[in-house]
Amino acid sequence: MDLSVKIGNLFLKNPILTASGTFGYGIEYSPFGDLKTLGGIIVKGLSLKPRTGNPGVRICETPCGMLNAIGLENIGVERFIREKLPYLPWRDTAIIANLYGEDISEFEELTKIVASREEIAGLEVNISCPNVKKGGILFGQDAKAAAKVCEAVKKNAKDKTVIIKLSPSVQDITHIAKTVEKAGADAVSLINTIPAMAVDIYSRTPKLTNVIGGLSGPAIKPIALKMVFDVAQSIDIPVIGMGGISNVEDVFEFILVGAHAVQIGSANFTNPKVSFEIVNKLEDIAKRLNINKISDFRGTLKRPIKDQ
Ligand SMILES: Cc1cc2nc3c(=O)[nH]c(=O)nc-3n(C[C@H](O)[C@H](O)[C@H](O)COP(=O)(O)O)c2cc1C
Repeated sequence: MDLSVKIGNLFLKNPILTASGTFGYGIEYSPFGDLKTLGGIIVKGLSLKPRTGNPGVRICETPCGMLNAIGLENIGVERFIREKLPYLPWRDTAIIANLYGEDISEFEELTKIVASREEIAGLEVNISCPNVKKGGILFGQDAKAAAKVCEAVKKNAKDKTVIIKLSPSVQDITHIAKTVEKAGADAVSLINTIPAMAVDIYSRTPKLTNVIGGLSGPAIKPIALKMVFDVAQSIDIPVIGMGGISNVEDVFEFILVGAHAVQIGSANFTNPKVSFEIVNKLEDIAKRLNINKISDFRGTLKRPIKDQ
């Protein structure tokens, strides 16, 4: 069974990646499974300097999902390289750095730092975080700004695969996807969380101190699936799908509508073994679907015949 996928210069042994912010820096999940079996690990968003994130309550459960307003807390790129990267099995699985900059020059500097590391196979550029005051979603909602970030990263990324992570909070996600493709992106990933809120009627307070957070989990899966479907048809570079994926059938749904690979996100919180379990089930499902190569299944969704 050939489960492998190629995305730019990235070779993934299977299409299962872990979504940034839901799998720590990777090593925290090593007690739950063999990291080497994953197609790749996308680490928590990294900034030039360490960030403490937002204060107060930053996470709450919602029906079929969760809200988060972490605000990109992270230890900073230098500490990540010193303290986490050496312990990741980078020769056996693709390590992808997720980058967050407040402006173009920060993205450039971050890219230079990570692109010089042989342990890092690719860069995912977060222009879609809804929980920060500068950068984030502001880049992802403006096609010109998204193109500028993409060009700046690509210029400094050497041979590393550049994946631009798109926001669902736009009028037409295919327009942003086409724009970053033109600007040199090797792939796009989608979707990031959807701005949302939860309140408590007894205390009359928002459940998150930040008031607004990003919704993720199964609640957003149908939205994510449609966006991946739309984007996959409108660009020629690979699409990496995510949003509510919790089991191996969900993985194949995203591949069916055109995704090259997928990311497992919030599901890692309810079951820290889920990404490993999904990898183990890929071959079984592929056999049941009568395919020898996972890429043969990609984008093969049949359409209803019109006027019948
Ligand atoms: C607690 C939490 C932290 C996140 N942190 C990041 C981050 O640092 N960078 C990023 O690009 N996305 C981040 N995300 C978004 C996820 O990577 C993913 O796009 C989103 O949760 C949708 O996938 P899911 O429904 O499978 O969780 C975070 C999500 C959650 C729930």
